[in-house]
Amino acid sequence: MNKTILITGGAGFIGSHVVRLFVNKYPDYKIVNLDKLTYAGNLENLSDIKETQNYIFEKGDITDTNFIENLFRKYDFDGIIHLAAESHVDRSISDPGAFIQTNIVGTVNLLNAARNFRKDNLEKIRFYHISTDEVYGSLKDIGFFTEQTAYDPRSPYSASKASSDHLVRAYMHTYKLPVVLSNCSNNYGANQFPEKLIPLAINNIKTEKPIPIYGKGENIRDWLFVEDHASAIDLIFHKGKNGETYNIGGNNEWTNIDLIHKLCEIMDRKLGRPQGSSAKLITFVKDRAGHDLRYAIDSSKIQKELGWKPSLQFEEGLEKTVDWYLNNETWLNNIISGKYEQYYEEQYFKR
Ligand code: NAD
Ligand code: DAU
Repeated sequence: MNKTILITGGAGFIGSHVVRLFVNKYPDYKIVNLDKLTYAGNLENLSDIKETQNYIFEKGDITDTNFIENLFRKYDFDGIIHLAAESHVDRSISDPGAFIQTNIVGTVNLLNAARNFRKDNLEKIRFYHISTDEVYGSLKDIGFFTEQTAYDPRSPYSASKASSDHLVRAYMHTYKLPVVLSNCSNNYGANQFPEKLIPLAINNIKTEKPIPIYGKGENIRDWLFVEDHASAIDLIFHKGKNGETYNIGGNNEWTNIDLIHKLCEIMDRKLGRPQGSSAKLITFVKDRAGHDLRYAIDSSKIQKELGWKPSLQFEEGLEKTVDWYLNNETWLNNIISGKYEQYYEEQYFKR
């Protein structure tokens, strides 16, 4: 069946994997990728599919109401998969403003456009909002986030995502806009911007720079390979029930310090360095303000109802990720010049 789908944030990390999956898997769909190309957006992530016939790129800002209205006028969207966001917690701590604008105001613009341009046949559209497990707050040693866990966001990033989740649900209850949501744990894989823990550590190990670990490295995250997130998004977009939320996770909890030791081992082997040499780069630095202790997702709902499960074991995914970064030096080098260098200085040396 022909469909025209808007994917926002498709030049970013997760968005680019979702765009590639949809463009290749659904040749009958028209896939419109809308992205502002902020520091985190990179069209190189999609160089392999950019000439594909069913793919269109539109550069624009989701906070720009006129632009969004014109885009909805231009394309008769059947579905929206909304990933565009400011996504890095540390940046939200030093400068929350952009997070409020993009994550909250931008989401409302898209919701208004979806509602207004399909007024007479609202049931034909689907608004799929991609969110994070961080909206649920921080866990102690035991327990998991379920779809019923009360929201308790604790950083400007997670508060802005929680706010957008509430607005999406409000548009469903108030205006009957068909929506579906998912909240996912930490993703890793190719094309992740090297401000996030895993690619930052890979780059620092490669260049023999200190690996900064916040606090004592005891914080726990549940890691999921990005292509497994993309396959869950595909399933939810096509088979998820309107009004429902699905938690997505890897059932794969690691303390930051154990994860970095594992990464050091893999990198030593791949770079032909003596085992133990990369671990010497581990450097404990000042903790992140309000650092959430533990995230862990109970993904039994999506597993039972939609038959999804992660395809990769963590070690296999980590090996693939390291290989990708070692084989794509140009991608990394293009990023770690200019503005990123300035961010790195400010984040790690001027705090
Ligand atoms: P990312 O930072 O890599 O990419 C975000 C993309 O959005 C970039 O391409 C950027 O240019 C674009 N963008 C930012 N502001 C925009 C604006 N105003 N208008 C249009 N485009 C704009 O982020 P990511 O890690 O790929 O995350 C994608 C989504 O998934 C986000 O909504 C995030 O909250 C959510 N999420 C991420 C993770 C994770 O581990 N990375 C986990 C769960 C949920
Ligand atoms: O849980 C889902 C979330 O995962 C997403 O919603 C966010 O968009 C995504 O950025 C990610 O958030 P985290 O804050 O968990 O990811 P980050 O890679 O920034 O950090 C992972 C852990 O590593 C966290 O406990 C902080 C720690 N850390 C991070 C950096 C950048 C360090 O110890 N040192 C670092 O230099």
